[in-house]
Parts: sequence; C-alpha cells; structure tokens
Amino acid sequence: MAKNKPAFECSSCGHREPKWIGRCPQCGEWNTFSEASPLPDPPRGRSPGTEGFSQPLSAIDLGRDGEVRFISAIGEFNRVLGGGIMKGSSILVGGEPGIGKSTLMLQAADSFPPPGRVLYVSGEETPGQLKLRAVRLGVSREVEVFCEAELERIIKVLDNLKPLLVIVDSIQTVYSPLVGAYPGVPNQLRCCCHELIEWARLHGAAVFLVAHITKEGLIAGPKVIEHMVDTVLYFDSSATDVRFLRASKNRFGSVDEIGLFTMTEEGLKEVRNPSTLFLVRRTEALPPGIATVPVHEGSRVLLMEIQALTVPAQGGLSRCSSDRIDPRRVSRIAAVLEKHIGIKFSDQDLYINVAGGINLKETGIDLALALALYSARTGLPLPGGTAAAGEISLAGEIHPIPHLDRRIKTCRELGFHRIVGPPPAESLPDYLPALSLKEAISLVFQS
Ligand code: TYD
Ligand code: MG
Repeated sequence: MAKNKPAFECSSCGHREPKWIGRCPQCGEWNTFSEASPLPDPPRGRSPGTEGFSQPLSAIDLGRDGEVRFISAIGEFNRVLGGGIMKGSSILVGGEPGIGKSTLMLQAADSFPPPGRVLYVSGEETPGQLKLRAVRLGVSREVEVFCEAELERIIKVLDNLKPLLVIVDSIQTVYSPLVGAYPGVPNQLRCCCHELIEWARLHGAAVFLVAHITKEGLIAGPKVIEHMVDTVLYFDSSATDVRFLRASKNRFGSVDEIGLFTMTEEGLKEVRNPSTLFLVRRTEALPPGIATVPVHEGSRVLLMEIQALTVPAQGGLSRCSSDRIDPRRVSRIAAVLEKHIGIKFSDQDLYINVAGGINLKETGIDLALALALYSARTGLPLPGGTAAAGEISLAGEIHPIPHLDRRIKTCRELGFHRIVGPPPAESLPDYLPALSLKEAISLVFQS
C-alpha cells in the first residue's frame, strides 16, 4: 500500500480501513469512521545510538540493575502496580469523570519518595484549581505543576526539569500541532503518548497518563494507547462508597490485585482491612436466599454476600437477572440444582445480587450461589455463621479451589464457624467437607 494513501479511521479505537464503512470491525461501534490524517513522521529522539540503548546487552547484565521501583507511601497503590512504580514505565489511569483520578494522582505525587522531582502536567485545570485540591489534600511535598496541553512545550519542560515522576492529566487534552488534528483523536493520542512514554523510558522516570472513560467502560477513543503503555489501571466505584483500583494489564505485576479506597473530605483513604467490608451486618436471623462466600481477590480474601430471589416466571418462560455474576453461570447452577437435587427452577425467574456491588468471576463462588438459590427456592435460611466455597461440576460434584486454607482462615477469623466446601488435604476444625452438592445441602440444612 502506498505510504499515506487516504485512509478512514475509527474515532473510538483507531482502527484503519482503506474505505469508509459504517461499523468498525474491531470495536463494533457504528458511524465512527472519518477520513484520517496521514500518520505523523516517526517520533524524534529514537534514532539508534543516540541514547546509548542501541547495543545489545546480555540478560545477565540486564539482571544486575534488577527491578527498580519507586515505592509510594500509598500501600494500595503499590499493591495494584505490583509492588511499586517501575522506573521508566508508563501507566494509563482510566476512570469516569469525578471518580477521583486527579485526587489519586496528586496523592501519589505527594507520597512519591524524595529526592526525585515530580511534575504534574494539567491540561484540564488551572493552577488555582490545582492549588485548592493540593491544600485540601494537605500536600506537603514539592510537586511542580505545569498547566499546558501542547506536547512540544511539555517535552521541553521535561528535558529541563528531568523529573522522576510525571503525571499527565489528562492525555486526551494533550496535542501536537505537528500532527494537525484535534486533541483526543487517535492520531494525536498515539503520537503524544508515544513521545511521553519514550521520554520516561529513556530517562528512567515513570509517567502516569490519566484518561477519561466512557459510560460503556472503554477509555474514550484511546483504546489504541492501551497497547502502548506498560500498565493499564482502572479506577471504578461499587454500589457502596468503596472505590476500586484494578490493573487490566500489567507488565510488571499481577492483574488480580485490587486497591480499595474511600473518598473522604481529605481525599482518598486506603481501606486496610477489607475482608468484612462487603458483609451486611445483621442482628437477627438470616433471611432465606442469602449465602456468604470467601472470595480470593489478588492476594486477599474478601467475604461477600450472595443474595438470591426466585419468583414464578410469567408465562412459564424463566429469566435470569444478575448484574454481578454472569447470568449463564447462575442458570447453569440452577440447572444442576434441578437435575441433582430435584428442585424446579426452570419455571422460576431468578434474581441474583452481590452485596457491595463487586463483580464475582471466580468459580469458587459456585457452592455459595447454589446454597443461596436453594435457600431462596425452599424458604429455608442458612444457619448463622455459615460460609461456603467450592466449584460445582455439571454432575453436581464439588471440586477443589485454590487457596482453600486461606479462605477458611479468614472465615474463622471473622466469626464464620461452619464452613462448607471441597475436602481439604488434612482435616480442619469448623470445616464441613462435602464431595457433592447434595452432601453440602444436607450438611448445611440438617439443623
Ligand atoms: P477528581 O479527583 O477531580 O475526579 P476525576 O479526576 O476522576 O474527574 O475528584 C472526584 C470527586 O471527589 C470530586 O467530585 C470531589 C471529590 N473530592 C472529595 O470528596 N474529597 C477530596 O478531598 C477531593 C480532592 C475531592
Ligand atoms: Mg480530573
């Protein structure tokens, strides 16, 4: 294909096609194609040999430098990043407007270990607005602020100051006149991100790129830049006041860890002991349809409450409404209950909720989900202090799950003394091992 032949580009994900089409084959959005400006010339400063990175190094030499991370004073932040901020790395921080991205970034800047310089580039807020936030958060560290959106000026300031932490809030406002398009369009994002990421990499600094996401949960437009950065963090809220920081991509750590925060008058506060955060405190007996499950999230165990409700289906057509657990999983567990326990669910509408509004994806929740459905359908509540964990096969067997011992330990610490699940390697107090769903139901509901 001839270089710079006219092309059409999706404004949502940056995918290019030689002809205009109505629907993007990559992201599925409609009417997002428009004529694309030619791709900019290759970014500067990367010609081989100029920065001393062109010589191949042996893996042993690379290992000598080791992993070098900046450890911020925010434990939950370090945890999600895989143990701190990697030197030379680029991190995209996405979230809906108002979720607290700028607050988190300013707090991260404030807690960045001295003596490195910290530069906060804001293309959205005035110095006055930033100062107000800094006062509110009690920022005590030297954080240099530069309210600018033009890439070339930002790079010039970076070259002068040589900060070790750079925050760009937001990447959608940064533009380069050399690209000749509006800020926020894929070409601009690609070019500006590339320059900033390269600057950070070559100078051993870390760069955070803040991005707003759309209602659909996609980073508006710049899906393209997710591939360019080392780490993608999403800041999200639950039905409760808790805010979650999650990695959806991390070259330097696990993507299972979550950081938990609450927003207060003085900014974001870490939730240090979250195990019981999502449990509903009740003084009287448990109503039917409720079961507690120890969920393994990253390196922690959280106790979650699954709530089920069944009502006769209108016109005999069963429906399943479940926002937090995949409805197909709910239907599958209901089918196993119907087949192996003999309780009819196929003429019922099923409603499933998870208290605290966290999405549950792991298979270890199967048994608690089955017990909640059974309890809802029969009207028999689970005895107080019961928790359940285990994966259920289509044959109605209970299969082992990872980290069973840690889950049991957390349950016990939090006053759950009847824990039912797959047989453990060795016998444990307070634990009711069950090989099948039938056995688990008779153990739980026998009293
Ligand atoms: P902000 O960090 O500006 O969100 P984003 O950058 O993601 O758009 O702030 C989010 C909200 O948090 C805003 O409505 C004000 C509120 N807030 C507090 O409640 N306490 C605070 O200390 C701060 C700084 C903000
Ligand atoms: Mg902001």
